[in-house]
Amino acid sequence: MKKLLSPSLALLMSLTLTACNTNNDTNGSTQQELSGDISQKEPSGYDRELVKFPENYDKGVNYTTVHRGNVREELYTSREAIEAVQNGQPFPDGTVITLEIYKDEELDEIFVMEKRTGWGDQTPQGTPRNGDWQYQEFNADRSLDYEEDIGRCFTCHANQERDEYVNTLDEMKSYDLENFTGAKESSTESQITGIPTDHWVVKEDSQDNLLGNSLMEDEEKAGIIQKVLLMIHFNKAT
Ligand code: HEC
Repeated sequence: MKKLLSPSLALLMSLTLTACNTNNDTNGSTQQELSGDISQKEPSGYDRELVKFPENYDKGVNYTTVHRGNVREELYTSREAIEAVQNGQPFPDGTVITLEIYKDEELDEIFVMEKRTGWGDQTPQGTPRNGDWQYQEFNADRSLDYEEDIGRCFTCHANQERDEYVNTLDEMKSYDLENFTGAKESSTESQITGIPTDHWVVKEDSQDNLLGNSLMEDEEKAGIIQKVLLMIHFNKAT
């Protein structure tokens, strides 16, 4: 499954990913900067009681699977949500999207985002608000992971504002609901999902990058973004 390049961690850490904002757009939420430093403090005050564990989420539509190295992610949402997306409508009130994360085929964590009318108002003052979405992380045993920095879910997903804060909107759009039987096998797989990272710019700090060109090939860029995402998603320690 070797793909693209495998940059050393050091190289990786020296990469800076920035949302494409060459102009001085003052909208902070789209000026998300991803760098090796993932140790940002969580602004306190997130209400961790809002998003409950979504019982029976796995009876919903397993609309895509993402593979990265020894990590596999299974993404679920409701049929209603997929239908709305395919009809060009906003996600219905009460939409839940669930992301199972398997490491070495063992369930490791469960990430959830849920949209409810008025929930945007529940985000602490001075922190980004992603529409009416709230986020939650659960351990494999379904207990709430209070150690998790929920603020980072908001900041990173804010990059997808144009897609209603969802990274895998394209996978939802292209999912064939006729496949949906409630069975797990109905997932379509993608090696590198169609994460809309076109608007991200990958730069190397050093002058002498491999290509002698400050902008990388798309595939290479995608590979690096994937690795950084992987680190941020799964390595809690810095
Ligand atoms: C560094 C960026 C980043 C951070 C931080 C992040 N996510 Fe995500 N999230 C993604 C990407 C990219 C995807 C698409 C699937 C993939 O490639 O892993 C995704 C997918 C999801 C999905 C499926 C819906 C979608 O957007 O496609 C859920 C649910 C989710 N994340 C929840 C969370 C929660 C909860 C947190 C915080 C605990 C979190 N995410 C933190 C980038 C991020």
